[in-house]
Amino acid sequence: STAKVFITYAILEKGINLLKEKFYVDVYDGEDFLTKSELIRRSKDADAIVTQLRDPVDNEFIESLQKAKIIANYAVGYNNIDVQAATQKGIFVTNTPGVLTEATADIAFALLLTVARRIVESDKFVREGKFTGWKPKLFLGYDLFGKTLGIIGMGRIGQAVARRALGFGMNVVYYNRRRLPVDIEEKYNARYVDLDTLIAISDYISIHTPFTKETYHLISEERIKRMKPNAIIINTARGPVIDEVALYQALKNGKIAGAGFDVYENEPLLTPGLEKLDNVVLLPHIGSATYETRDKMSEMVAINVIEALEGRIPPNLVPEQAAIYSRR
Ligand code: GLV
Ligand code: GLV
Repeated sequence: STAKVFITYAILEKGINLLKEKFYVDVYDGEDFLTKSELIRRSKDADAIVTQLRDPVDNEFIESLQKAKIIANYAVGYNNIDVQAATQKGIFVTNTPGVLTEATADIAFALLLTVARRIVESDKFVREGKFTGWKPKLFLGYDLFGKTLGIIGMGRIGQAVARRALGFGMNVVYYNRRRLPVDIEEKYNARYVDLDTLIAISDYISIHTPFTKETYHLISEERIKRMKPNAIIINTARGPVIDEVALYQALKNGKIAGAGFDVYENEPLLTPGLEKLDNVVLLPHIGSATYETRDKMSEMVAINVIEALEGRIPPNLVPEQAAIYSRR
């Protein structure tokens, strides 16, 4: 009989069409998100499940799966999935690395410029009919040129941000679990520093690390206190990497200059009051949201599902599983 693929929320057509050529595809195409029990009900007899980063693919969900060979996450981040539970049940877990690197680096840089140059406030000012003519002190912001950008997490996305920073004449420092090879550091003129040094010397800080037990509240209240008064922090990675309440307090009290958010600690909820601050820019998790990128992501999840259901090892296993399968 034909294998069943369940897609928990309608993704772009390209991937769905590839899957429909081979399998029975059940796509949830409503607007409201499925509840966890509905997710479980429609997944339990599926051979493959295409999940979104907001789906809680925890032990309970994984235990309920009767036939699944693969969980293909439509995202590079996979902190929503209990990889260990899936691995124990022999279920592949894949993500979409690489294809969303440039789009996400663009959104990080867009936030950097938008916060530094007060673009949203300025736009609102003009729309409200308040623009009466050029003024010497109207909407003063901060230069990027000559300033120090601290990149936390120097993977593919962090490096793509470093490449942009180089073009803008910024000095790049970075912190990463492991120091990068010298040739890569030279390529971006990026200097490796420890996290506390990065916090203390950076004018701009951009987060590009996954959310794991180790990175929870990496940007803690203590570290926020040691940032420069002109510091601007950008998060396009995962909300819980920052202590959002502590950051909100610092922004509200003018201890740092500003922040740009694409992700939130309790997404989609905001720390109350955040939406009232003028020195923040708030985006609804759109880092990878371009036609080109989401198209490629849909193709990538489809290929992973096809490979797994046809008995091969899918190409984009998450690193924890890739390490296991490459040892065989
Ligand atoms: C988006 O946040 C992703 O992880 O792909
Ligand atoms: C994601 O693509 C990363 O490694 O930064």
